[in-house]
Formats: sequence, C-alpha cells, structure tokens
Amino acid sequence: MELLIPAAFGVEAVVKRELSRLGYPETKAINGRIGVSGELSDIAKLNINLSCGERVLILLAEFDAVTFDQVYENAYAYDWQNFLPCNARILTYAKSVDSALFAQKSLCSVLKKAIVDKLTNVYRRSLDESGARYMIEISIYKNKATLTLDTTGDGLHKRGYRKLAYTAPLKETTAAALIDLSVYNPDKYLADLFCGSGTIPIEACLRAINKPVGIDRQFDYNFWNIDQSGDKLAREEGYDNIKRDKKVFISGFDIDKNAVSIARYHAKLAGVEEKIHFQIADMRQFSSKQRYGIVISNPPYGERLNTRKEVEILYKDLGSLYKKLPDWSFYILTSYPNFERVFGKRADKNRKIYNANIECRYYSILGAKPPKNQEKRFVETDE
Ligand SMILES: C[S@@+](CC[C@H](N)C(=O)[O-])C[C@H]1O[C@@H](n2cnc3c(N)ncnc32)[C@H](O)[C@@H]1O
Repeated sequence: MELLIPAAFGVEAVVKRELSRLGYPETKAINGRIGVSGELSDIAKLNINLSCGERVLILLAEFDAVTFDQVYENAYAYDWQNFLPCNARILTYAKSVDSALFAQKSLCSVLKKAIVDKLTNVYRRSLDESGARYMIEISIYKNKATLTLDTTGDGLHKRGYRKLAYTAPLKETTAAALIDLSVYNPDKYLADLFCGSGTIPIEACLRAINKPVGIDRQFDYNFWNIDQSGDKLAREEGYDNIKRDKKVFISGFDIDKNAVSIARYHAKLAGVEEKIHFQIADMRQFSSKQRYGIVISNPPYGERLNTRKEVEILYKDLGSLYKKLPDWSFYILTSYPNFERVFGKRADKNRKIYNANIECRYYSILGAKPPKNQEKRFVETDE
C-alpha cells in the first residue's frame, strides 16, 4: 500500500531524510504529502519512529473530483470493509485547494454518506458507530482528490510526555526538526537557554539515546481489528535499541521557575529526567567552559509574550553571549523581523518555518569549527 506522511511547511526535506534513515529512501510527492510504499508493519514502524512527520495516512483512492456525484460514486466504490468494521466510528475531514469543490462541510457529508451507504449494504445492518475511531479525509488539489485513512489519530507531535500546559510551547515535531536542521550530534553539548516546557532538550535527548518518540503511546490503528504483530515487533526493537547508558550533555535553562519544574516533569514522563540538566537562569548568566557547543532555542518573539522593546534588548544580549562563546553555534527560531540586526551578526543560513501558524525564521549562526579529528577528543576530556 501507499502511505502518505504530511510534513509541516519548511520541514519536508527533514522528513524525507528521516524516512531515508528509517529505511524508506524512495519517496514521492502525492498531493502535498510524502509518499512511501509499505505494508501493515510499516504503519507501526513509521508511527512509532517518525519524529518530524505529522501523521501516517493510508492512501485509499485517487480520482477526478469536479462534482459531488463524482465524490459520492468514487467514495462508494472503495471497499471500506477492508478496514472498517460495522461498528466503526467514522469521522470525515475535507480539504480543498484551487478546485471546483470547496465547501468542506458538504464534502465531509457526501464522503460520510458514501461510506455509510457502502458499509450498510455490505454488512446488511445499520451502523451504530460504537467502536474504534476511523478518521477519513478527502483532500482535493486542482480537482484531483485523494482519499486517505489516518492510522495515527492524535497527531504524531503528541508523544505523551507533555501533560502540563505552558505558554507558547513549541510543537514536538517542530522541535525535532530544529534539532535535525542543526549540527547537533549526541557527543556535543546542547543548551536551550529558553527551554520553557522542555520540548527541545527532551526531543534532543530522545534522539541521542535512540528512543523512538512514539513508543510510549497508542495510535488509532492499535484499536483496529488488524494484525498487530508489526506493532509488537517495532516496539520490541525500539525498546531493545535504546541506548540507556549513553552519556548526553543536554541542558535547559529558563528564567521562569514554573517553566523549569514543568520541563523536569515532562522529562520524567519521557523517561529522560536523569539525562537532562534543567536550571532556573536568566540567559544572560549563561557561560560554559565546554567548547564547540550548540544553542537551540525559541526565545520570546515579542508577539505573544513580551513587548517588542524587551525582546530587542534580549536579542541584543543574546548576540553579546554569542560573541563570548566564539566556537558555539546558535540556532534561533523567531518571528522577530530584524533578528540579525539586533543580534549583531548575519546568520549563515535561515529558513522559513511556521510555529503555531506564526511565520518564523530559523537562523543558524555557526561558531568556529573544531580542528579536524579533535571534536571527539574535546568531548571525552570534558566529561
Ligand atoms: C517561546 S517560550 C519557549 C517555549 C519552549 N520551547 C517550549 O517548547 O515550551 C520562551 C521562554 O523564554 C523564557 N525567557 C524569557 N526571557 C528569558 C531570559 N532572559 N532568560 C531565560 N529565559 C527567558 C520564558 O520564560 C519562556 O519560557
């Protein structure tokens, strides 16, 4: 079957790289999503391991959709009984871009009617929808429709460790992408100077110890009447491959003591509390004897948390800190438009990324590189 992975704007290449690492080097673009070929067992493998993708969908059908009749007929033609039992709780979703059909509510109703009519016909009884959830989407782009079944349920960003509310947290999938877009590797020092609820340090740590981000949660497919042996295997393999003794060098700092206690609690739920050093601290107090470290942070933007003036002072001070740590690389996600000017250094790279629908830039400001072959030695002697 074809499996589709939606990726957030700006992180498509990161998801493709991750898919390749997981053993799916061949991908194709299908209606704005990344497609890979797979079997039932791949549904489990992808849901449990993917850290930057948003969900795992099964591609059910593709057809031209200019009229509601075409939607009904093509949806009715699909053999829904392949996946849906007679008590399936059916939720339909619709998306439409540049197409004749754009009324999402009507698309949802037509899709649902077609599925219910087909299943009623096949099972020869009325459906009570008392069973497991099945989320089905019709997505139309330039009059071409795709029908998909969502195997994930609650999005992949819901790892399960972030139980407490915090202001302006970063989505877990975005945090994982920020780490992937940096030069971080588990032998390096990583500090998030504005850690909030701890998302960046926790995601970095899960990656460093090779813990699959979805291993502690359930997905919609876990409640379906399908072969779950792939799920069992993917979880067993995942647990076996966790590098529990791996020494990591990850810290999270925040000026807000509430944030730090929330971050510690989240790290505990993620099973990595022993590995991350969290501390209440103003970014301006940060110093380190470590060399070639990395800062990955999303500081306040001035839109939601602080005033613009305060943010400018903060970014200026962040720039001064960077100058005191000449071999550290800084990776900063912010929507503040004049970041480089206030920070005092032009970024080596920046890329557009959305955080909670706010257009942001992810600035990479690289520090001096370690002399060849010495990077590893620095880490070892610093332990
Ligand atoms: C956008 S939030 C970070 C959210 C975090 N990435 C998460 O996923 O929860 C920015 C954080 O910066 C912290 N902060 C603001 N000024 C600070 C400063 N001078 N030093 C350290 N932390 C600061 C705030 O308390 C807030 O938690």
